[in-house]
Amino acid sequence: MTPQELERVVGGFQPSIVILAANHAGVFTTLVGSPMAPDALAARLGLDARALATLADALVCLGALERRDGLLAVPEALRATFDPASSTSMDSAFTHQWHVLQRWARLDAVLETGRPLPRGRQDDEQLRAFILAMADMARRGAWTLWDNVDLGAFGHLVDVGGGPGELTLAALERFPNLTATVFDLPDVLPIARGYAAGRAVGRRLDFKVGDALKSRIPPCDVALVSSLLHSYGPDGVAKIARNVAAGVRPGGLVLIREFMWDDEAHSGPPTTALFAVNMLSGTPDGQCWAPSELERIFGGAGFGDWGSHRLDARTSLLVGVRAGR
Ligand SMILES: C[S@@+](CC[C@H](N)C(=O)[O-])C[C@H]1O[C@@H](n2cnc3c(N)ncnc32)[C@H](O)[C@@H]1O
Repeated sequence: MTPQELERVVGGFQPSIVILAANHAGVFTTLVGSPMAPDALAARLGLDARALATLADALVCLGALERRDGLLAVPEALRATFDPASSTSMDSAFTHQWHVLQRWARLDAVLETGRPLPRGRQDDEQLRAFILAMADMARRGAWTLWDNVDLGAFGHLVDVGGGPGELTLAALERFPNLTATVFDLPDVLPIARGYAAGRAVGRRLDFKVGDALKSRIPPCDVALVSSLLHSYGPDGVAKIARNVAAGVRPGGLVLIREFMWDDEAHSGPPTTALFAVNMLSGTPDGQCWAPSELERIFGGAGFGDWGSHRLDARTSLLVGVRAGR
């Protein structure tokens, strides 16, 4: 890294916070509806006019907004990103990033204690934003995932820690003979049910409350474990591996989809290293894993014959087969 690159990285928080704060205040979703004058926008959103005008100047200079005849507008290229109704919307993902940012700003405290920061009072709103953010991100990754795994010959899938269930909804759309269960914690399932409502394949999907640390998953041919294991340390992951193995029939599959390290020496990629910092700030013992570590732990629970796929710069997929007859 050169000194110039270092300075650019260090200053990177400024544009990020300007965009996330504007998103959190509703600037983009409002302007997606129709362009508005800065004063009118401030009045609509209950914001200070001078503050909004200053932020708007920055947003226009950054290219996140544009001015048309004195009105602020969302550029055409970003409309779908900021429109909550679009299938490529990042509205919830950005709202979640705003909450994540609050934790990252207190990384100094985490560094002293090694403990995650206490959760704030906005828990319900934050949980909902988190789960819908997972949907925003899963919509992008779902096709790549199912391009790499053919579930045409399998009957029932359990999505362990399935969150909004977007990956599974995409699987149901791809594989017409598949049925599925989203298995998740009690607070999350009402959000998942609401998210799946209205999707035609939803009639092949059910929901089961459960804690993968404490109880076996429902019987299935395939268990999908996506973006769950980074929330836990070695003991938690070993418990989850045993509870997953107890549900998958012999010859069935576990699909582990995670932001993984390249190797156990943590050589890269940088995106995984930064995600590990995120888990440090948000969980007592969460971390990112190398494929070999997960194969060892899930191997101890009865899975083997591993295959692996790189899905994108930081996401990998491990496919293991349940031993036994
Ligand atoms: C990061 S989200 C991933 C959602 C989804 N699997 C995906 O990849 O888009 C993690 C999910 O795991 C769930 N979860 C965390 N711990 C769990 C546990 N012990 N048992 C069941 N679900 C759990 C969370 O509630 C959340 O919905």
